[in-house]
Amino acid sequence: MARFPGNDGTGDDAPARFRKDPDPRFWRMNRSLPFDWQLAPYDVLQSQAHARGLARIGVMTEAEAEEIAAGLDRVLARIEAPGFAFEDADEDIHMAIERLLGEEVGALAGKLHTGRSRNDQVATDIAMVVNAASHRAMRLCAAAMEGLLGLAESHKDWPMPGYTHLQRAQPVYLGHHLLAYFWMLSRDARRFGFAAESASVMPLGSGALAGVNWPIDRKIVAAELGFAAITPNSLDGTSNRDFVIDYLSAAATCAMHLSRLGSELVIWSSSEFGFVELDEGFSSGSSIMPQKKNPDSAELLRAKSPRVAAAHQTLLGVMHALPLTYGKDMQEDKEPLWDAIDTIEASLEVTAGILEDIAFDRERLEEASGDEMLAATEVADLLVRQGVPFREAHGIVGELVRAAIASDVPLSGLSREEIARVSEALGGDAGEEYYEVLQRGSWLESKRIAGGTGSEPLAAQIEEARTALAEVREVAGV
Ligand code: ARG
Repeated sequence: MARFPGNDGTGDDAPARFRKDPDPRFWRMNRSLPFDWQLAPYDVLQSQAHARGLARIGVMTEAEAEEIAAGLDRVLARIEAPGFAFEDADEDIHMAIERLLGEEVGALAGKLHTGRSRNDQVATDIAMVVNAASHRAMRLCAAAMEGLLGLAESHKDWPMPGYTHLQRAQPVYLGHHLLAYFWMLSRDARRFGFAAESASVMPLGSGALAGVNWPIDRKIVAAELGFAAITPNSLDGTSNRDFVIDYLSAAATCAMHLSRLGSELVIWSSSEFGFVELDEGFSSGSSIMPQKKNPDSAELLRAKSPRVAAAHQTLLGVMHALPLTYGKDMQEDKEPLWDAIDTIEASLEVTAGILEDIAFDRERLEEASGDEMLAATEVADLLVRQGVPFREAHGIVGELVRAAIASDVPLSGLSREEIARVSEALGGDAGEEYYEVLQRGSWLESKRIAGGTGSEPLAAQIEEARTALAEVREVAGV
């Protein structure tokens, strides 16, 4: 089977060192073109900058560098045109582009690979991919954060039950609950920012591993390609994939956050909860039950998360115990990265879309948060104000709850005598206050502490969120 350009089956056309063509079984595993063709735009930009770098030190003339650059533009246009097919003999995108450049500019194409190895070339391409993807992710985080902030503002005084163990715990404002997701995403955006930074150091010039023999000004090439710096060590430069791992780590955490939001939306949109309804554009019907409207988008946010985490895990596994410097193992960095990029971008876009047209049910939320049992901690704190140690107060309220359940009444349904019987501390004025703290709304507004759900700290939190969003937008360049 023809594997090298012009192969006639004799092995004579294989690289000079070889007498034999690669075994088809090996070729199938070794060939990265089926997935690394996506590097083409980055590889072309990099090669154009490299050609100019070579021209500056006289390895080729300025005119030759320009001819190569124009040829590379034509190569990219051909690759991107519908119906374009690579050749079976193209091992990876770097070799394919070099071959195609030969078709465009002839023997001159052979000068381009001076002072460069595929090892520093591929590391540079991947760093460019990660840098661009990190910026896109930050922008998508900002869009979802904007949706959450808008909803938090319009629902800042809608009470709902807050949960621990998925059991009703204490009431909170819906705006407060939504902002919890805002802060998760703001941390994600910072993590993507870190990944972008870690991918902004250019490996090109590291050569195969030891550096190259040509005094190319790496800093000029780096600046042309948008890198902030150059790698200080050629061994590290060719064998480093931390930036991929940093991106995947950020993406895995972000996907995990979205899975929690998705999960809550699934639960909340069930008839049992009835807290929320997703827009039809983000729901699906059932093929058999005509009444069904399923929250598929939220379910998928939930289920997409583990594959992103798996991509992170895969890269850690690929790089684990890998001796310096480049090993073919590292070719396995791409598919998990592509998959994670596609998945997290789709998930963030769906999240922003869901939030655009989501309808919360104020009555259902309020009804569920009106359960007086949610005020049990308020009563405990009332006892603390009477000098009862909190642990003891906790026990007293437990008894009050038991008494209320036994008489099938809410906590406020217990009489003055009954509560005084449970605790002396509820005998005097505190007995009256007992009924006051059980008034709806007072439970929420008692959370005046910074970061709490009360209206005052919530208003401050909304302000803080506005500033945080502006910061993310600035770093993301939107
Ligand atoms: N396709 C390879 C990769 O993705 C390119 C680098 C090949 N380097 C080498 N020494 N064979 O990693």
